[in-house]
Amino acid sequence: MMSSSKIRLISGTSNPLLSKGIAQCLNLPLYNLDVVHFVNDNLKVRINESVRGDDVFLIQTSQPPVNDILMETLQAIDALKHASAGRITAVLPYFPYVRSDKKDEPRISITARLVADLLQTAGADRILTMNLHSPQIQGFFSMPADQILAGKLIIEHFRKGDLSNAVVVSPDAGSAKRAASWAGSLNLPLAIMDKRRSDDNDDARIYHVIGDVKGKDALIFDDEISTAGSMIEAEKALRNLGVNSIKAFAVHGVLAGPAVERLKKSSFDEVVITNTISTPEKDVWDKLTILDVAPLFANAISRINSGDSLSSLFHN
Ligand code: R5P
Repeated sequence: MMSSSKIRLISGTSNPLLSKGIAQCLNLPLYNLDVVHFVNDNLKVRINESVRGDDVFLIQTSQPPVNDILMETLQAIDALKHASAGRITAVLPYFPYVRSDKKDEPRISITARLVADLLQTAGADRILTMNLHSPQIQGFFSMPADQILAGKLIIEHFRKGDLSNAVVVSPDAGSAKRAASWAGSLNLPLAIMDKRRSDDNDDARIYHVIGDVKGKDALIFDDEISTAGSMIEAEKALRNLGVNSIKAFAVHGVLAGPAVERLKKSSFDEVVITNTISTPEKDVWDKLTILDVAPLFANAISRINSGDSLSSLFHN
């Protein structure tokens, strides 16, 4: 399609506040979907405005009810395609099933890959997302998939504090590369935890910590906090090793099941997440900081529309 066609922002039902924030940053109107839940558990999604020839950005994060939201996303894309949208970009701040990205057990689905295929089959032309669980998930798409990173936002946030005695801690070996990049940007040393998970019950255990953390201000960086089991284990291990303070950062605040209660009871000095997933008012407490990703997404949408480079949004 011709670049600079009219941007049409459409919000799914998952995180309307984030959609609104993106629309405000772009100073553009935001359109909603009509979603009907039938008694037989089927969904019907309708686009209320003409989108013929438009550069459509459907904003829909993955959050509960995850499977209904996914079906809503697929139906919305299909509806946009049949309504002759010029180009359809699925803006998925937290990508559905992002942790199911490998066959690490026999006879299981690589569901993140399946979702990528479903989005393409539905009619998406591009994907815009943030901090995938592993960077190679980008290779699951045969259409353009842009992954913007929350790194700059986080770095700006932590630079406001005293970092003179800080150490960046990677919560597991898999996140070490990402944590190393943050440590590099903040000019801080790095420690790495040896975390292992035995099964699906979401309980993680820390076996070793590699690096010097005693008496330091630890900054743990992860891609997401789900049940907070990993963060709580990390907190215990670091306290046992005599850290001075601990702050936790994760891009996606999934905050599932016992997460909020666990974190409220913990000794974290601060827990920082972004608003890729909305946090209900009742789950907000005094030590929780929520950073706003709307300006980053607005910037990316504007660049995609005008055909400009996004590469400055891919780095920490
Ligand atoms: C795991 O590989 C991820 O990077 C996160 O550490 C994980 O999703 C956190 O899950 P939970 O909060 O349930 O321990």
